[in-house]
Order: sequence, then C-alpha cells, then structure tokens
Amino acid sequence: MAKAGTTTSARPRPPGGGEPALARSRADLEGLLHSLPLEHNQTRAVVMTMGALHAGHSELIRAARARADQLIVTIFVNPLQFGPREDLSRYPRTLDADLETCAREGADIIFAPAIVHEAPPAVRVCAGPLGDLLEGASRPGHFDGVLTIVATLLHLTRPQLAFFGKKDAQQLVLVRRMVRDLAFPTEVVGVSTVRAPDGLALSSRNSYLTTHQHQAALALSRALAVGVSVADEGADVVLEAAGNVLASEPGIDVDYLTLASPDDLTPVRTGQALLLVAARVGTTRLIDNIELTLPEEAG
Ligand code: PAF
Repeated sequence: MAKAGTTTSARPRPPGGGEPALARSRADLEGLLHSLPLEHNQTRAVVMTMGALHAGHSELIRAARARADQLIVTIFVNPLQFGPREDLSRYPRTLDADLETCAREGADIIFAPAIVHEAPPAVRVCAGPLGDLLEGASRPGHFDGVLTIVATLLHLTRPQLAFFGKKDAQQLVLVRRMVRDLAFPTEVVGVSTVRAPDGLALSSRNSYLTTHQHQAALALSRALAVGVSVADEGADVVLEAAGNVLASEPGIDVDYLTLASPDDLTPVRTGQALLLVAARVGTTRLIDNIELTLPEEAG
C-alpha cells in the first residue's frame, strides 16, 4: 500500500486501477491531501466506515467513485458511538481484507487511523431530540458519538460529497441535518441498502449470527416486503401485516416497527414513508427499513 508521495493532482482512478495511499494517522492524511491536491472544479468524496467491509460498503464506494475525482474511504471503529454494554471489543476487525476491497473498488486514499481523538473529546456534537428516537431510545448517546466522529472526519477529509447507506436511516437523517444546521460545505448522498439473496440487509453485525439466528433474522426483511406489498391499503394494514410476520418468528425480540418520514423521522400515515424495524436476534441488534408510499387517508 502506497504512502504519501510527491505532489500530483487528483485523478479519477478506475476501480482496480492501482494501490490506494494509506494514511494511518491524521498527520499522514494531511500529508496525502497536500500531495494530492484537487484541481479547480474537481471533487473529493468520502465514504466513512467502521471496517468489516461487505458488499453494501462496496456499493457505497462505487457510488462515490462514480461521482468524484478523488475518493477517500475511512476505516475507524469509533468508540464514541458504543454504549458501555455494547460490542466495541468484539466488533469485527478485518483491516487486510478491507484494504483489498478499497483498492478493488477504486479508493484513492484510505484513512485507517488507530485513534482519531488523542483523548475522549470534551466537546461533542449533540444530536438533539432526533437522536433520542428509535435507535437512540435503546442506545442513549449513540448518535452524539456518531455525529461527533462524522463531523471530525468531515473536517479532516474536507469532501464535497459524503456517501452514507440508507440502511442506517436515522444516521442518514441526522448526518444530513447536522450538515445543514452546522453549515458543512458537503453534499450528503444516500445509497440504497444491499441485501443478501435471501433478503437480509447486509451489515457487519450479521457475522455474529449463527445459522439458526440468520434464519430468524430473515423475518425483518420479510416483514418489510409484506408491508410494502399492502402499502396501497394504508398505514394500519401495513403495520399489522408486517407485525404479523415478526410475531410469527419466535427467534427475534422486536424493539420497534414503525412508519416515519424519511426527512425527519416524524410519524407519518400518508405519502412517502419509511417502514423501520429493529429487533434483537440473540445478543445482536439488527435494523432494517424500506421506502414506501402510503395513500391519502379517506375522509
Ligand atoms: O455507519 C457507520 O459505519 C458509522 O456509524 C460511521 C458513519 C462510520 C461513523 O462511525
């Protein structure tokens, strides 16, 4: 993997077109950005990840590659977004394979630091009330931790474009909101969820599932698909049909199933909506969502 070199300008690099440069520290990254400056009108994109890259991340990287002259992928398991009883130490770490994926998909720079903050930051981004809903209700402080690292990484990478997966719908809404409210000069782009052939939304946490739990977890995507199939019949029918699918799977413990606005996650009963689900399968918490259109309510 190449390190910071002499100055050349950013150039579109086709997927598989050579070695990305690897930055293992903030200073490395700064050096690389200095030696690979953008020319006028060129764009830089960032894809932020916690590693354990799968086909969903590849899709994000490809979407970013297609729109940017220079592509940075960050790999950092962010301690700030894990609660005291969450899985920070057992979070999968697969750096060598991740570096290969980034190279294959055409990243120019990989930022994989051991630490981002010298010490836990005393000043943090507060997600506000949106951060207390849904995932935030079960994971207090999670989105403050996410937004604090996302803000830091946006400052360090200075991209025009930042790509995030739609699977983490609440994260996407909050990142968009932070970028707007705090005037980051970055466009946030949402990328569709990638699913395994059996329907399971790809997630690094799927690696925790036993074969039996994997089968049980399929109830989430099945419930969403059933919900979409009855969207024309309105919100109550959607929730009932999807809820029945979840209720018939004893191997999962549902946290929420709800319809919410894709813009601000407020509850919706008509128009564009997200059907969102979260459930525990064994000790693994899984989330999924799907977009649908609900009819106007009669009367
Ligand atoms: O979606 C993730 O993997 C993380 O929440 C992110 C955006 C990389 C921040 O740590």
